Amino acid sequence: MKNNGHILSASQFDRPFLDKMYRLTNKIRRFDKSKEGLLYLQSLLPHKRAILYFTQPSTRTFLSFQSACHILGMKNSEIRDATTSSERKGESVEDSLRTFSSYVDLIVMRSPVRGLCDRMAAILDSSDRPVPIINAGSGPDEHPTQALLDIYTLQRSFKELGGIEGKTICMVGDLKRGRTVRSLSKLLTLYPGAKIIFASPDAFKIEDDLRTILKDGKVEFLETSDFRDAITNSDAVYMTRIQDEYDDHAGASAKVDTSAFCLRAEHLKIMKKTSVIMHPLPRRTELDPAIDSDPRAKYWRQERNGMWTRVALITMLLGVDQQILLPEL
Ligand code: CP
Repeated sequence: MKNNGHILSASQFDRPFLDKMYRLTNKIRRFDKSKEGLLYLQSLLPHKRAILYFTQPSTRTFLSFQSACHILGMKNSEIRDATTSSERKGESVEDSLRTFSSYVDLIVMRSPVRGLCDRMAAILDSSDRPVPIINAGSGPDEHPTQALLDIYTLQRSFKELGGIEGKTICMVGDLKRGRTVRSLSKLLTLYPGAKIIFASPDAFKIEDDLRTILKDGKVEFLETSDFRDAITNSDAVYMTRIQDEYDDHAGASAKVDTSAFCLRAEHLKIMKKTSVIMHPLPRRTELDPAIDSDPRAKYWRQERNGMWTRVALITMLLGVDQQILLPEL
């Protein structure tokens, strides 16, 4: 793994890292099944502290990281609104991050600003407190820990079907500004034979830099506006919402007709019996709640997997992973 112990981009991972992280995740889920196991997990990091610095809205990423800290016995503090910090008094975000590093052992940050995590990591690396940063979402750019949980969910779903290799993953919605799509696509380059179908209106197609990454990674991909054909031929359908918080002017996204890119109960009959339906959530109208009871719907399991994969990631970053891998249950 690159990046000096920081988690900044899905591009930094390799297969050995992922395979180890998912072995850890499986073991952690087994510890969760008993009081003794949970107390053991809590004994691993009670001497460590984390701050969750989230200046962009979040429900599941925030709560799953907070829960992951609690599972490992860590204390955590939080800032969820820069207007309640000294940034309101004119302090730069750089100085704020340096201040956090004075108090904690881990910084988990979400920001609407592309590249901010990378900049902060470089600043901390040249300071006397090079505390690791985890990117929990950086503008429309990256959401690497979401990709980790997405791959884990795909891997579990395809466990009896030969794994992710050779499967076709259809990503639907706002592919231009969807950071989960970008990070997941990058991780799929590590699974030979995985194919991607990108289904979106023209206005929300993927950007050239992602096309280049996929070509360099030898991932076969197709861009289409034929939603029905795409979901019929896929092993996984990964729905996403329109990211209108990044509109250049208010209401711009609403002018794009996205009605043909919504998954409805009527589509279930044209999808493969073994396919899986995923969504990073939150959802709006692109994913009909009537689908929730279909056994192919994996998004609630997906968000719970987020907590377990984040526990595993923290143990690796803070050096207690062997204490999970080694003991017999
Ligand atoms: N998937 C995801 O990032 O959800 P939140 O915005 O609720 O954290």
